[in-house]
Amino acid sequence: MTAEHDIAVTINGCTVRARVEPRMLLSDFLRHELGLTGTHVGCEHGVCGACTILLDGDSVRACLTLAVQTDGAIIETVESLGSAEKLSPLQEAFRTCHGLQCGFCTPGMLMTCMDLLKKYPLASDDQIREGLSGNLCRCTGYQHIVEALRSVVPKKERAA
Ligand code: FES
Ligand code: FES
Repeated sequence: MTAEHDIAVTINGCTVRARVEPRMLLSDFLRHELGLTGTHVGCEHGVCGACTILLDGDSVRACLTLAVQTDGAIIETVESLGSAEKLSPLQEAFRTCHGLQCGFCTPGMLMTCMDLLKKYPLASDDQIREGLSGNLCRCTGYQHIVEALRSVVPKKERAA
């Protein structure tokens, strides 16, 4: 039997201590151990982006990350953004611009957008599309997602 490891992780602002097997995926840890089912699992191969979360501020695939690797890290999941009663500005933009249909890709899209908004000017739709290109959506045709992200880019960036 493989030895388990104790980890301490900050998830959505709360410290979580847990004992995990070395092979446990971060996506499984979040969903099955912590009940944070907002992080969706699609391909489990790093292709679809549905499982994207922020790890120490960078967007990463939770399905390609082992929970044990995150010891000491800061993780943000889609649950950190807002609630059904109080959507974050980005979530509100997705709602207003019809940036989701079935919603399966949406958590990963939102977390990718959070990363993009922090790091890039997103001054053109080409930059927005390139930033979102690692996330797959089967429903929307992407245009409405692009519009949602565009609508929350600060005006000075769009004028660049
Ligand atoms: S489930 Fe992780 S990238 Fe598809
Ligand atoms: S809204 Fe259905 S997969 Fe994107």
